[in-house]
Amino acid sequence: MADAPSGADVVNNGALLTHEDKIIAVGSAEEILMHPSLTNASMLDRIDCKNQLLLPGFIDCHTHLVYAGDRSREFEQRLEGVSYEEIARLGGGIRSTVTDTRHSAQEDLVRGAVSRAKRMCSEGVTTIEVKGGYGLTLECEQKMLRVARSLETVLPVSVHTTFLGAHAVPEEFSGRSDGYIDLVCSVMLPEIAKEGLADSVDAFCENIAFSEPQVRRVFEKAHALGLPVRLHADQLSNSQGARLAAEFSALSADHLEYTDEAGVRALKQAGTVAVLLPGAFYFLKEQQRPPVNLFRKHQVPMALATDCNPGSSPVESLLLILNMGCVLFGLTPREAVAGITVHAAKALGYSDRGVLASGKRADFSVFEVESLAQLCYPVGTREPSMVIQAGNLVSKNPKP
Ligand code: NIG
Ligand code: FE
Repeated sequence: MADAPSGADVVNNGALLTHEDKIIAVGSAEEILMHPSLTNASMLDRIDCKNQLLLPGFIDCHTHLVYAGDRSREFEQRLEGVSYEEIARLGGGIRSTVTDTRHSAQEDLVRGAVSRAKRMCSEGVTTIEVKGGYGLTLECEQKMLRVARSLETVLPVSVHTTFLGAHAVPEEFSGRSDGYIDLVCSVMLPEIAKEGLADSVDAFCENIAFSEPQVRRVFEKAHALGLPVRLHADQLSNSQGARLAAEFSALSADHLEYTDEAGVRALKQAGTVAVLLPGAFYFLKEQQRPPVNLFRKHQVPMALATDCNPGSSPVESLLLILNMGCVLFGLTPREAVAGITVHAAKALGYSDRGVLASGKRADFSVFEVESLAQLCYPVGTREPSMVIQAGNLVSKNPKP
């Protein structure tokens, strides 16, 4: 194999040895061929990846993959000058996807989610985080999270599910958002946790969504139930979301366009990953960029994700996001690739993937490129020549 990046370091003329679903050694081709476990070299299933780049399986650590309907009418409204916040205040936005998702049968939600996830997998994604948050009733949130979990049974991908009950105030609770938070904390969260439907809990802290005290209640309940938290923070205004996420040792704080230096320091202290979402930044024509230089200065790990959703980021390509992270946010190719591998794994609380190292999951893909810059450079998709998930070859595209 030409290059075997461990984390974001590129190894030339590298090789990698796997057994079942694990990597057992990574090193130079010479070292690997001398590896003690290779007593009978003829037993080897060897794949030559000469002049190609071998990368850890990509991790999309922030998606709203399960939903029904589309929001193209709102897209037109925004082109006519109506803002994302105004549309939400008028009862559209997240609420309109909630209406469609509530009316959608589980099989139809599965169909939509599978087709989106399939496209992600074809680019080398081997782990996806999937949020609920378009149901906003116990039954509909259960339906969404069951659909999310089912993806693992039909596609070569691992799924991390996130309960996002505090995404928007549902119509039936208009003017009674505290009452809705009561329902989230006393009924929805305990039931979702009991059924093991969620691996983490998210909330949307913003003036069009939930206040700091309301999010605090959700997070306290999540912790009481043993679930880690993450937060949609400081996306449209500085609502002190980063600080709040850090206070609860959140796995990640996401968006962060309006986060100030005190918020960045808090993230650093808490070990919280900053998840940057250039798809939403682009699609909402946001002018304020997340404070990338402050994340660098304070050494806060930065992840990148699609935020795939029908309202603010109808994007299914993590490779496009890699390019957007570089062009829109000024990340280096190395930072961008770390953002969809090692740092994305940390954002999901996983230490068993995201790097090519002995003992990690055998999730990786092979691209016909010579450098990380070449991977990040095209605007749009680029198919890997091979994807391996949990040690199994799941796709192979013949060289042209
Ligand atoms: O990450 N910010 C809140 N949630 C989504 C948008 C959801 C929607 O508009 O449907 C986001 O941007
Ligand atoms: Fe989101």
